[in-house]
Amino acid sequence: MTSSILVTGGTGTLGRLVTPLLRDADDKTRGVRVLSRHGRGPENSGEDSGENGSGGGSGGGVEYVTADLLKGEGIEAAVDGAEIVLHLAGAAKGDDEATRNLVRAASRTGVRHLVYVSVIGADRIPLGYPRAKLGAERAVAESGLPWTTLRAAQFHDLVLTMVRGMAKLPVIPVPGGLRMQPVDAHDVAARLVELALGEPAGRVADLAGPGVYGLGELSRGYLRARGTRRPAVPLRIPGKVGRAYRAGENLTLDGADLGKRTWEDFLAERVGGVSP
Ligand SMILES: NC(=O)c1ccc[n+]([C@@H]2O[C@H](COP(=O)([O-])OP(=O)(O)OC[C@H]3O[C@@H](n4cnc5c(N)ncnc54)[C@H](OP(=O)(O)O)[C@@H]3O)[C@@H](O)[C@H]2O)c1
Repeated sequence: MTSSILVTGGTGTLGRLVTPLLRDADDKTRGVRVLSRHGRGPENSGEDSGENGSGGGSGGGVEYVTADLLKGEGIEAAVDGAEIVLHLAGAAKGDDEATRNLVRAASRTGVRHLVYVSVIGADRIPLGYPRAKLGAERAVAESGLPWTTLRAAQFHDLVLTMVRGMAKLPVIPVPGGLRMQPVDAHDVAARLVELALGEPAGRVADLAGPGVYGLGELSRGYLRARGTRRPAVPLRIPGKVGRAYRAGENLTLDGADLGKRTWEDFLAERVGGVSP
């Protein structure tokens, strides 16, 4: 298959939504290749599983290849032939280093558009993950390749994981002043595909969800949808990190694009029950 679009992390939460959208836009694309460490993997392979011992292979018009961006293994072969690279692969640590490795390989081939997804507040929240995302943004911007970077808010899926985890505790911890603006991964996927198939645009407007919620509200919405309750206990995030969150540095209140799907709609679909 001649793959002209490479999607790193195309097996993840976001990547699994992006890949079919790209594949369906085949009037503009010649093929989609997905890069991840574990290839298609049993979780993602459906009826085509076991096609390839390395976890690679192809299915549904998509080619799956294995590479490790952090270790720098298999990247050259994965990038070969790609005109557009949509870089979605990410982990809790090392996104800066992984992105530098990807950029190095992409700079040696004919990539004409590198698209990156970062996180709102990458330059304002003094924690390891956003700092690594900022390092990755810089690697993209300084790559010499034509580029586009979108900063997105936390996905509904991530917030659901958080509130589910907290709901297992006897009391719900509620850090005072911590607000979130969660966005649906479908909205992020659609925006990224639009950006990838368009002209390189540099840093574009942030993409956040349609509502701003305190962490307590998000937890209560989840518990209500489950038909249960828990007492809440207020807590204060100390130091610079707490100050940054209380100042809303993880939000974009003005000038963001807003996704359409609300937290309530997401909860109703994923958890059922009563929306707030
Ligand atoms: N989740 C959020 O709330 C959120 C918010 C804003 C921005 N983002 C960004 O959006 C992107 C996608 O997030 P997501 O939630 O979809 O992540 P995810 O579900 O954890 O998926 C991560 C993807 O990256 C691949 N990957 C991880 N490490 C890799 C490595 N070293 N080499 C190659 N592939 C690797 C994973 O596959 P393997 O494990 O098989 O390698 C998987 O396909 C990330 O860059 C993230 O920082 C996420």
